[in-house]
Parts: sequence; C-alpha cells; structure tokens
Amino acid sequence: MTVQDTKAPAEVRSGAPDTEPRQLLRGQKALVTGANSGIGKATAIALGRAGADVVVNYVVGDDSAEAVVEEIRRSGVKAYAHRADVSNEDQVTQMFAKMVAELGTVDILVNNAGRQKDAKFTDMTLADWNAVISVNLTGQFLCAREAVREFLRRGIVPSVSAAAGKIICMSSVHERIPWAGHANYAASKGGIMMLMKSIAQEFAPHRIRINSIAPGAIRTPINTEAWNTPEAYHSLMALVPYGRIGEPDDIARTAVWLACDESDYLVGATLFVDGGMTLYPGFTENG
Ligand code: BGC
Repeated sequence: MTVQDTKAPAEVRSGAPDTEPRQLLRGQKALVTGANSGIGKATAIALGRAGADVVVNYVVGDDSAEAVVEEIRRSGVKAYAHRADVSNEDQVTQMFAKMVAELGTVDILVNNAGRQKDAKFTDMTLADWNAVISVNLTGQFLCAREAVREFLRRGIVPSVSAAAGKIICMSSVHERIPWAGHANYAASKGGIMMLMKSIAQEFAPHRIRINSIAPGAIRTPINTEAWNTPEAYHSLMALVPYGRIGEPDDIARTAVWLACDESDYLVGATLFVDGGMTLYPGFTENG
C-alpha cells in the first residue's frame, strides 16, 4: 500500500521539527555502515547526539568500533558495534535481523562504507575493480534493500517520524566530476547516483525518503595524501573555492538534517557538501 494524504495541503503533517537539537531523532534507530572511522564515525556520533540509538557497522578494527560505541553511549542512547562486510549478502541480512531483534526496527540507514583502490586505467586489475564496486555500490544495494524491506513492514509511526524510513547514501563529488586514475571509484559513485534516484522514485509513494550526500575533499584516512603536507594541502585548495578542507562534522551535520523531519520534503536529491568543488574553480579565470 502507498500513502496518500486526503487532507487539504495546509493540514498535511509537515513533519514540524522539534526545537531542541537533542530531540531531532529521539527514539529513532540508525545504522551507519563503515562507522569506525572518518565520515561514518562522525555521522554515527552526531546521530547519537541527536537522540538516535546507533548500530556501528565496521569490517576491520574492533577497537576503533568500540571506541565509537563508547562515545555514542555518552549521549545517553543505545549503541553497539556490528562487524559485517556490506558486500556479503548473508552478513548484511544477519546485521539487519539482529538490529530488529535488539532495537525493534530500523528508521535510518546511512549507507557510508566505501573504499578506494586507485590505479592507472591500463594497470587496473579486475580485483581492483571488483573490490571497489562490491563495497561502494553492491554494498549500498544490499543494505538499502534490507532497510526498505523493514520500512515497508513497519510503515509510518507518526510519533517517531513523518516518514516510514530514511536512507542517506554517501556518494562523492565524483558522481559528477570524472576522476582519472580512479575509474572504479568514480564509476561506483556514478552508480550510486542512479541507484539512489531509482529507489527514491520507487518508494517515495510509501513515504520512504532516500537522498545522497556528495562530499568533496574531507579530512579522513581515505585521502590522507591529499592534505597531510603543506604542499598537498596547497594544491588541494586550488580545487576548493571556499578555501578550507572539509571536516567529517560538516558531513555529519548534513546527515542528521537529512535523517530528521526538518528535511521531510527532500526526496531523491544529492546534496553536494564540497566547499564549492563542483563549481569547477579551474574556470574562474579560464575558458
Ligand atoms: C574521495 C577523496 C577525494 C575527494 C575529492 C572523495 O570522494 O574519497 O579521496 O579527496 O573525493 O576529490
């Protein structure tokens, strides 16, 4: 069954936000993949601060995952770590089944796990290609499918959220900007764009909201070489009109907003959080 309002537009529930930031996600259950470092870690912590109970998915690094769990619990919410490879169908279905058993349901999925395995195209092995596509794209498919199944089973609980569920897909500026030497990564992100839009279209009538964040250069372990020396940082800044690298919290704050009812009418969108990288600054004085 799909959801339709029969009331006049003014009466339709707008998902009016709570004013207390702490309350924005109160009572909601969130799963963040790849949550033991970088953007995933910051997002998992921010969701906990906003009142959600959080499952911290990771694949390697038990200690770092437990440290994130500890930090989330300091917000007074529930959290636990779950080791699973998002590209493995059985591990993904088990992860969702356990979350439903432990926390009751899933309200928010942050499809964040991702990796790079860069190579000049003519040197790129099939293993390099598959390693990136299977985590970045197939992993998002498998997790989104389980989340949508749970959203459809549970439906809308008006006291929790105006939506039946929210998925935030972590994309990249490279869903738009071609990236020589990173064809596998850019292809995975281009794929995420159409995966996200296609399922957003399919499930919007059920009040399931699916959107993406496309981060630019964010200070995380995935791109250390791009910012950890003054020379690298300086040349990176040629690509960032706003003149600073992004921090994981820049993305985490956006994820909290996308997960809560303040963004209730946003469906199938990609938010570029990139300090202007997609403004093509190379054209400022050329072209
Ligand atoms: C990549 C980073 C890169 C950034 C901007 C991200 O998606 O993971 O390595 O610095 O895009 O190019």
